Amino acid sequence: MSTEVVTSVDNALTLKGKGLMQEVRTPRLLLRRWSDGDRALFAAINTDPRVLEFLPRALSREESDALVDRIEAQFEERGYGLWVVEIPGVSSCAGFIGLSTPRFEAHFTPCIEIGWRLGADFWNHGYASEGARAVMEHGFEALGLTEIVSFTVPANVRSRRVMEKLGMTHNPADDFDHPLLPEGDRLRRHVLYRKKKSSEINTTW
Ligand SMILES: CC(C)(COP(=O)(O)OP(=O)(O)OC[C@H]1O[C@@H](n2cnc3c(N)ncnc32)[C@H](O)[C@@H]1OP(=O)(O)O)[C@@H](O)C(=O)NCCC(=O)NCCS
Repeated sequence: MSTEVVTSVDNALTLKGKGLMQEVRTPRLLLRRWSDGDRALFAAINTDPRVLEFLPRALSREESDALVDRIEAQFEERGYGLWVVEIPGVSSCAGFIGLSTPRFEAHFTPCIEIGWRLGADFWNHGYASEGARAVMEHGFEALGLTEIVSFTVPANVRSRRVMEKLGMTHNPADDFDHPLLPEGDRLRRHVLYRKKKSSEINTTW
């Protein structure tokens, strides 16, 4: 892969050129760019109450499609994004795992975030951890990132467990109120996890 790595003034990393990685494979997953065939399955995930427990609200079909458009635009603009999770033989679109740039300012921004959202039928098979481990390696090795963060509400133990399995660490001093959510919102308080390039990914699970 040939990439031109450009560190912009705000220190957020941007990749330009033809070297954009189109897909990443793991033993059980294909992480790939979005196609129109993914949109209906992704829209169904975005209305499932189980998936929405720690997310602000359901997305309409139009909002879900707009999110796919924004994700694809970010791939083109920045050289990274949230990949579709395909589980060959199981599901052509089980959700997403990937990297993104938060659209708000906080004490830890600018930064690059690792995130995930899978359909509930695919939980607890280790898929998120498997895909995220590959994404993290891609971020540190191919993209040259020095730190990746992740955040969620304190009660989202499934997501926090994935962060912990990746070897990310939580310092309570990093906890924050999400700037895009109003005071009193049930999801406003967040925990932040970080991982530096040098620290090892937990491989004992
Ligand atoms: C978070 C999410 C991606 C995890 O996907 P997944 O494929 O099930 O994750 P994994 O199987 O790799 O790991 C889940 C871990 O949580 C654990 N877990 C699941 N339910 C749990 C519970 N109620 N309490 C404690 N741990 C729990 C699992 O046992 C597993 O840990 P283990 O491997 O040590 O046993 C998935 O639950 C999801 O998409 N949730 C909805 C969207 C969301 O919240 N996204 C994150 C927003 S920040």
